Amino acid sequence: MMDWTAFRAHFPVAGRWAFLDHAAVAPLPDVAVRALAEYADSLAAHGVAAVRDWAGRVAHVRRLAARLVNAPDPDDVFFAANTTHGIGVVAEGFPWRAGDNVVVPADEYPSNQYPWMNLAARGVDVRSVPSRGCRVGTDDVRAAMDGRTRVLAVSAVEFASGFRTDLDALGALCRERGVFFFVDAIQALGVFPIDVQRTPIDALAADGHKWLLGPEGCGLGYVRREWVERLHPIGVGANSVVRPYAFSTIDFTLKPHAGRWEGGSYNVAGIAALGASLDLLLAAGTENLERRVLELTDDLCDRATAAGLEVFSGRAPGEKSGIVSLTKPGVPPDAVVAACRAAGVVVNHRAGRVRVSPHAYNTEEELDRFLAVVRAM
Ligand SMILES: Cc1ncc(COP(=O)(O)O)c(C=O)c1O
Repeated sequence: MMDWTAFRAHFPVAGRWAFLDHAAVAPLPDVAVRALAEYADSLAAHGVAAVRDWAGRVAHVRRLAARLVNAPDPDDVFFAANTTHGIGVVAEGFPWRAGDNVVVPADEYPSNQYPWMNLAARGVDVRSVPSRGCRVGTDDVRAAMDGRTRVLAVSAVEFASGFRTDLDALGALCRERGVFFFVDAIQALGVFPIDVQRTPIDALAADGHKWLLGPEGCGLGYVRREWVERLHPIGVGANSVVRPYAFSTIDFTLKPHAGRWEGGSYNVAGIAALGASLDLLLAAGTENLERRVLELTDDLCDRATAAGLEVFSGRAPGEKSGIVSLTKPGVPPDAVVAACRAAGVVVNHRAGRVRVSPHAYNTEEELDRFLAVVRAM
């Protein structure tokens, strides 16, 4: 049995807010705060003299990240500046030919649209797949593909509706059609399992600042090994090559793995903090975290109607996530968000609806507080 009270004790935010907005920017757990402080103290006291210790920490966090997505090797993971960086690795580096296309659901977050739209000058079209209500259908994705489709780019969980994509079905579709499968994992990774060996994902990216409980501007990328040499590397620098510390020897031999996308200095502070949060999440176990997040969001949906709310998100098994999208007819969503904030409850609004996104440390009592504010409006 998971001790959620002990888990919750790691979250200082819980003393001040009913924080239900992990789909935006998550609060840091105490372990991540300590890792940031430890790095700052070390940098102040030792500068470069402590560099080896921190290189060891970076290697440790890479192993944790590889464990999280079940990458065959830690070197299949690279530290990305954010999700956008990881998307660019594929969008900019893919061996496109004019007339190719990429299939992208129409309601994706802008980070997973603009990098593909930016390929128009290279003759690459974006084929948009409209949602049906809260869902993106596998058949609709299939129908959008043709003989020139090279890449499918989807988010594991859609940021506004909370629709959880069937990655196995889309992965199988991509394999069948010989299409590269890219996953924006930011709204799932940390609390929903993603296994790159089980699911034929060719690349994924996620910044750390949502369900992974890290600070903004430090994320993870994964590229399947067989694609490393086929993607033209972007952002190449001194750290992209096999001898990164041979500063006086120019030997342009790229690392034979995802490390080639780490062109320059690491965001060591961000990596250390993200690593502390990863330790916490991995110790809790993704299955437990998923179960708890779904228990909380199920509870919220069960009780939403009594507060006058309509649930927009799909709640069938397999399609529900940590994001619940709701409306209160006649009440603007920004008014709900403001009233909640005044009452010590943090939620958000997206796509004209209220968005509530609890993490596993939240409680039913915090959901009560949200529902009480809405009921009174
Ligand atoms: C689906 C999705 N992708 C990406 C991002 C953020 O992208 P980046 O890490 O590049 O800022 C968000 C943030 O809201 C998101 O919801």
